[in-house]
Amino acid sequence: MLNVPSTSFPAPSSQQRVATLGRSKVPLKPGRSLMDWIRLTKSGKDLTGLRGRLIEVTEEELSRHNKKNDCWMCIRGLVYNVSQYMEYHPGGEKELMRAAGADGTELFDQTHRWVNYESMLKECLIGRMAVKPISISKGTLTQVKVPQATDTEFRPRYDWFQTDSAVTVVVYTKQENMGLDLVIVDYQENVLRGEVILGDFSYLLLIELNHEIQKKIDVCVSAKAGKIELVLQKRETKVWKTLGQYLEGHDSFIKSFQRGLFYRKCRLASKIAVNYNTRLFCFELPKGCNFPVPVGHHVYIKLPIAGVEVVKPYTPVSHSLMLDPKNKSICENQCIYLMVKIYPEGSFSPQLDQLSIGDYIAVSNPQGNFKMSQIEKVEDIFFLAAGTGLTPMVKLLRHVLSYHHSLRKAKLLFFNKTEDDILWRDQIVDLSLTNERFEIQFILSEPSAKWNGCKGRISLPFLSETITRSERESKVLICICGPNGFVDQGIRFLQDLGFSSEEVFVFKE
Ligand SMILES: Cc1cc2nc3c(=O)[nH]c(=O)nc-3n(C[C@H](O)[C@H](O)[C@H](O)COP(=O)(O)OP(=O)(O)OC[C@H]3O[C@@H](n4cnc5c(N)ncnc54)[C@H](O)[C@@H]3O)c2cc1C
Ligand code: HEM
Repeated sequence: MLNVPSTSFPAPSSQQRVATLGRSKVPLKPGRSLMDWIRLTKSGKDLTGLRGRLIEVTEEELSRHNKKNDCWMCIRGLVYNVSQYMEYHPGGEKELMRAAGADGTELFDQTHRWVNYESMLKECLIGRMAVKPISISKGTLTQVKVPQATDTEFRPRYDWFQTDSAVTVVVYTKQENMGLDLVIVDYQENVLRGEVILGDFSYLLLIELNHEIQKKIDVCVSAKAGKIELVLQKRETKVWKTLGQYLEGHDSFIKSFQRGLFYRKCRLASKIAVNYNTRLFCFELPKGCNFPVPVGHHVYIKLPIAGVEVVKPYTPVSHSLMLDPKNKSICENQCIYLMVKIYPEGSFSPQLDQLSIGDYIAVSNPQGNFKMSQIEKVEDIFFLAAGTGLTPMVKLLRHVLSYHHSLRKAKLLFFNKTEDDILWRDQIVDLSLTNERFEIQFILSEPSAKWNGCKGRISLPFLSETITRSERESKVLICICGPNGFVDQGIRFLQDLGFSSEEVFVFKE
């Protein structure tokens, strides 16, 4: 559990806020790792107590199975026996027991809706709830009816028109300041999926097209009018009578968190060593995909590990720290870059490292709480990063230095163990030499004898000395990311130094 001093610190929008709702990982006993769980599920052991039989479960029956050694749980209408999983649950037994003998859907979604429980608990499936008829096919559930937003005042609407060579689908959002980065478009197996993010809401177009199109889709946005155009190039110059079949969820306008995570397959294009334990992966987006990842947001990566689909979050970075647009790789819109530390004993990162060029992974839609409004009018920005905690800072740093002309100072305080651990050290130093608004300080906790830079760990005196406003009333933002202990301490020290909750944003790693 993160040790957050008061309920209002850091700001409610920080990702930290999510963590304070009782989320924390617990140390698991030896032999209870994810890989051990996967092995157990593949061992042929009867994990349900029903020897593979699927049953219909009444609420009364469900509620009877509410003990640690006999624990059933309903998620999205399907019932699982989670008794065997109890010791393997990274959130701990106590957390899992909160939904014992009950419908845990809401609790599950509040905590970690990205976790791929269907795959992980496939062998624990008891059956379905008798009262909520949701069809089961091979242990997975079919699409759930999408609830609609009640407030329809801001509901977008769409229309379409065509020429001989193209079909244009137009979405009228009635929102000013629409940007290309709010529109996610995918085209897979003749299905067009267009999602527009409007504040906390999501508007979706989901159409199985009747005719084939070229795989390149142009997305145009009129920011002032709030109009979005998706231009589809026809493969044949036929007149389309209809767009196609509208799939479940089409033309829906709901809260973003209610929308299931959508994944697209991305191909590993390159892998470069950043240092001895961290790699920069470049994944190619499929053709026809418009996939902007907002600054400070992360994606979920899904990989099959020994037949079980496992999901972990990563924060896309840019291909480098360089600001010169001439150096901006043309790949930037067609690729997604992940800087990942490989833990030899980890369950996921070594599998990622094992991928060969040309292999595919699934990448989710972006998620996160960071809002660009938080950096509006900011004059001094500080980045407190430890290790791969650098990743959310990369795009943010590039953004503020490129577009925030009112910014006076951007300072990165980068904490690592040794010199070899410093990620993108040369690039960071180059940037500080070429951009006078950017300052850098490396702090090492286990430096070699020849290191004459800053030594130690995050501390109150150090932050009090280094986090200073350029002018008395400067508007500041301090972003923190790193391991939980580092983040907890940072938050406490900043509060002691008198920074307000609005002045601190935590990217939880
Ligand atoms: C929002 C968000 C964004 C992130 N972005 C990035 C990013 O951009 N880059 C990045 O590299 N990471 C990022 N992470 C972390 C990432 O999601 C993974 O947690 C990380 O890659 C480790 O995963 P793993 O499965 O390989 O290791 P894990 O299996 O989770 O293990 C991690 C470490 O803990 C040790 N360990 C595991 N189980 C135990 C146990 N029972 N007892 C003792 N030690 C144990 C392992 O040996 C290993 O050293 C992010 C996390 C979040 C929440
Ligand atoms: C519904 C009741 C549940 C509660 C209250 C709960 C709670 C939690 C908590 C608090 C964490 C730690 C989160 C963090 O620090 O990031 C966690 C992690 C986790 N839980 Fe649950 N959990 C529940 C059900 C389940 C179920 C049914 C599964 C089945 C697979 C599951 C799988 C996981 C996994 C894989 C993680 C690690 C996530 C990660 O590495 O980011 N949980 N859970």
